[in-house]
Amino acid sequence: MTDAPHRLADLGVIVVAAGRGERLGAGTPKAFTELGGRTLIEHAVRTVSALSEPGQLVLVVSEARAAEALDIAAAVPLDSRWTVSIAHGGRERHESVRFGIEALHDGIRTVLVHDAARPLTPPEVFERVAAAVRRTGQSAVPAVAVADTLKERGEGGTVSATVDRSALVAVQTPQGFPLDVLAAAHQTAQEREGGASDDDAPTDDAELVQRAGGTVHLVEGSPYAHKLTRPADLLMLEGLLAGAAGAPHGARGAHARTEEGSR
Ligand code: C5P
Repeated sequence: MTDAPHRLADLGVIVVAAGRGERLGAGTPKAFTELGGRTLIEHAVRTVSALSEPGQLVLVVSEARAAEALDIAAAVPLDSRWTVSIAHGGRERHESVRFGIEALHDGIRTVLVHDAARPLTPPEVFERVAAAVRRTGQSAVPAVAVADTLKERGEGGTVSATVDRSALVAVQTPQGFPLDVLAAAHQTAQEREGGASDDDAPTDDAELVQRAGGTVHLVEGSPYAHKLTRPADLLMLEGLLAGAAGAPHGARGAHARTEEGSR
């Protein structure tokens, strides 16, 4: 420990990167595919390295890729007050998150859960989410307005209704939680899992907290937090990366990466 005027690190960042990425069809797990010459895992570690406070980073990867993930993280210049841990992934995303929670050290109070599949999420979004969790003592997720008109699918491929989108938002990651709230929500979900169908599987962590009756606050997300799912998303992300590197006020994360890359 140093006696620098920082509070003790209480921030945990769990990066879930254990998905197979079948919809991308890259033949390699999605988090190990490259965007702009760097794996998605490396993008995530570099973004964390640009945060204004230290903490514990947990990379959740398949057992077969654990050593590779550690090598990638070790090559990124992270503040020495960060610790990096590896957890092995589960069959479903929520199981991977649970294993990530189990890898957190004592003393972690605020946890951000982030998809490696959103490689260009700016550090500002991480910081906004963490600040909202600390300010409210509750959960917080980044969100953006829905641009498309939304319709409900009816019988035989027809439209049955137009949905009022004014109250709707699209939610991204990192999602932030007081650790005790997230751990309790996952514990409850695990206990109920036996009776649940696949249709009932939560698609994000906030959903587990909502099911447990918790309040989830919305903070401003970012178009840079676009998720890589299909091959076309890779083209979009490459465009965002090129734009951010060239723009004077682009995403700070992309700038941090550019500057570090040229050191
Ligand atoms: O499959 P999808 O893109 O929705 O996954 C979102 C994130 O969750 C990805 O970063 C993926 O690596 C991660 N994941 C995981 N373990 C799983 C499934 C998905 O860590 N079993």
